Amino acid sequence: MTVLIVGGGGREHALAWRLRRDDPTRRIIAAPGNPGIAEIATCVPIAATDVDALAALARRERVDFTVVGPEAPLALGLVDRFRELGLSAFGPTAVAAQVETSKAFAKELMQSAGIPTARAEAHRSALAAHGAVDRFGAPVVIKASGLAAGKGVVVATSLAEAHEAVEMMFAGGMGEAGSTVLVEEFMEGEELSLFVITDGERMVPMLPAQDHKRLGAGDVGPNTGGMGAYAPVSLGRAGEPVLPDSPLVHDVLRAVVAPTLAELRRRGTPFTGLLYVGLMLTREGPKVVEFNCRFGDPETQAVLPACDFEPPLADLLALVAHGAPIPPDAHCRPVGHAVTTVVAAAGYPEAPRTGDAIALPSIDASDVLLFHAGTRRAPGGGLETAGGRVVAVTGVASSFAEAQRLSRALAARVEFAGAQHRADIGWREAHRQRSARSPSSV
Ligand code: AMP
Ligand code: GLY
Repeated sequence: MTVLIVGGGGREHALAWRLRRDDPTRRIIAAPGNPGIAEIATCVPIAATDVDALAALARRERVDFTVVGPEAPLALGLVDRFRELGLSAFGPTAVAAQVETSKAFAKELMQSAGIPTARAEAHRSALAAHGAVDRFGAPVVIKASGLAAGKGVVVATSLAEAHEAVEMMFAGGMGEAGSTVLVEEFMEGEELSLFVITDGERMVPMLPAQDHKRLGAGDVGPNTGGMGAYAPVSLGRAGEPVLPDSPLVHDVLRAVVAPTLAELRRRGTPFTGLLYVGLMLTREGPKVVEFNCRFGDPETQAVLPACDFEPPLADLLALVAHGAPIPPDAHCRPVGHAVTTVVAAAGYPEAPRTGDAIALPSIDASDVLLFHAGTRRAPGGGLETAGGRVVAVTGVASSFAEAQRLSRALAARVEFAGAQHRADIGWREAHRQRSARSPSSV
């Protein structure tokens, strides 16, 4: 079997690692890949957004199926184009991918299917958006509707900040993504990321994870693409992990995922691939913060090492890519705890610096994994930084505390000028576990 992975970040390295580990004989091609992926697969220098060149590659290499990592090629219609050519790809069509690529589309879909989410209005003029801000009151959330690489959301604590965000977006501060702006009710609670593999109808929920979007320790500072993640996540006083068969996940499948898929089927544009549900666990129950139409980054680097799949992941991806039904008893189960720490470049997220020489620790244990993201080969053959998030290191263990220790220790050993990482990934989990051990202090 030959698999093509589209993309070249930490998420794609984790996918390649998993597919390689499950079957060492499998042929894996990545486009464009990265130096880490190149150690376990064949990398071909084709951009993830060059759909026609990717299709030609898939045909030439007799690829059985293609897995698409990033949202950009899905938004460009990679899956539609592959299907026209008789090629199989895992991911939604461009129309179904709008659950991520248009926040206005996603909100309208949720409203028409009765899915719990924050109240919101979409506006195409600054005047109307300013009016909505005044009606909603502070705190309020201002979102560019289009794709903005995780930077199109302003959680405004004051009306002045909200009006300023509206001005910025309509002045073109987020490019075309900000030509429609959502004014959204602020939700309070803990966030949870749930990945669901779907053939359009059947759902295989993976192990829920928690992401850390802010740059600084304690979840402060600017929003980023994600500075780390961990799974499983335990919630509630008893410190019980939320597993794929937990009541919370059942509730989300019933109240969010199933009606979303049904509504898209009803419209004649079924969603197949991976639906990423970003949730806020509010006092009134789980509500949707956002949908993504692909695996999350860096959650994938934590979730894949912490899970087992039946049938194996590659088989599930292949079934969906080929348009075949997922077997009714397919499932994902946890096999341990994983904590992922991202090591980011100097200047990230505003203006990441590239070209810094990287020295990576040598890894000789199976309980730590190092995934490349923004790395490249320098002319002399060494590694250098090539993007905002440079590497992601995952610790895997039978306890959260040990996984966290492993991840933190390895991150500290990744060396390049200006390297930044958070040493507190999973701090909420650590706090909850301490509280569960000493209930009197809660
Ligand atoms: P998004 O790109 O929609 O996931 O938003 C990025 C981040 O902004 C989320 O992960 C949340 O932390 C925060 N956020 C988005 N929408 C809301 C909301 N309605 N209430 C509170 N926080 C939000
Ligand atoms: N970790 C958030 C995302 O992948 O969008």
